[in-house]
Amino acid sequence: MKYLCLNGPNLQRLGKREPDIYGHETLADIERDLRALAAEFGAELELKQSNHEGQLIDWIYEAEDGDIDGIIFNPGAYTHTSVALRDCIAGVEVPVIEVHISNVHKREAFRHHSYLAPVCVGQITGLGTFGYQAALRMFLQTT
Ligand code: DQA
Repeated sequence: MKYLCLNGPNLQRLGKREPDIYGHETLADIERDLRALAAEFGAELELKQSNHEGQLIDWIYEAEDGDIDGIIFNPGAYTHTSVALRDCIAGVEVPVIEVHISNVHKREAFRHHSYLAPVCVGQITGLGTFGYQAALRMFLQTT
């Protein structure tokens, strides 16, 4: 089995970016921990990040047409703005779990709405970077 951890805008700055909200772990730390967890189950993990909406859409279609069994997706701010990503996820069969490091429901009102959650398997929010592992565990145990 192979899983894709997809990260949207500004998440390449994790560790440096607003650490009081997002903590000190970097994307490289997250990737290392996810790979280790996947390996325990004999699975593979690939991690990608882009600041560009269209690139994220292209990668979801590549995952759908390739060998990816599930996508762990932190869409960053596109969560709250992107009808295009919603339409993309709605039109593919590969399951997607939406992950947020911070609890978006405790924050500004504009973060309370997700265009993507209704077309995802579910949404994990506010568990810090552990949310990525929770999502991967869900895939490892169910797909
Ligand atoms: C985020 C929450 C979003 O509202 C924000 O725009 C991000 C990060 C999170 O992981 O908590 O960029 O997705």
